[in-house]
Amino acid sequence: MLKPIIIANWKLNGDKILVQKFIKKISFDYKKYFKKNTIILSPPIIYIEYMKKCMKNLKLSFAVQNVDYNYQGAFTGEISTYMVQEIGAKYVILGHSERRKNHFENNLLVAKKFYCTKINNLIPILCIGETKNEKKSGLTKSILKKQIDEIFLICGKNAFNNTLIAYEPIWAIGTGTNASPILINKILKFIKKYIIYKSDNTNIKFYMQYGGSVSTENIKDIICQKYVDGVLIGSGSLNYKNFLKMIQISSKN
Ligand code: 13P
Repeated sequence: MLKPIIIANWKLNGDKILVQKFIKKISFDYKKYFKKNTIILSPPIIYIEYMKKCMKNLKLSFAVQNVDYNYQGAFTGEISTYMVQEIGAKYVILGHSERRKNHFENNLLVAKKFYCTKINNLIPILCIGETKNEKKSGLTKSILKKQIDEIFLICGKNAFNNTLIAYEPIWAIGTGTNASPILINKILKFIKKYIIYKSDNTNIKFYMQYGGSVSTENIKDIICQKYVDGVLIGSGSLNYKNFLKMIQISSKN
């Protein structure tokens, strides 16, 4: 069976002290639980090198929270896929609703970043999801389709091969109210079928995550759903006790 993929998205949080403490604490339990899960850490990019230094022999993967689609040049404030590779991160979180909202990233821009990430041998973690109003108006599936379609348009039929896709309903992020496990399973099933249909390939390999108020209380019921390959944890990943507990729970799955 596939190991659950647990991703910690620290967003704009943390400092060197948290990095030190976090790594020290999780190192202790590494052997017990971590081999039963694939753990991907995504602190702010500026702390990745420091985190690696603190990790010593610990083998964990890293994701960055954003990337530019330009390779180099006069793009103040941006980071390239080349730089991401140089610091040893393997994954790139793309299309997070906070970037879509606060940095005006539309589906086309996300698709360009996705393309650039893939051709430079990094693995995209594409976040998609609908707002509360869109859900209320019954638009969830059409919004998700639009977010997916643009990736196919820019990146072609094989776009999603060897990628991760995270269903992160905006109404569940940071609210303390997760989508119900049944709904998560239903939506992920829809996404999977849609991607296979658009790819015209039943062997296409991609993994599906859920994100939005994942906690020690709900992870057990979420992770055991048929279409859930893992979770993307925001605020719950900043507290190492909770994070460890979630990894522990998912190990027993
Ligand atoms: P929360 O777990 O804080 O709701 O955030 C989820 C998220 O946005 C992960 O990318």
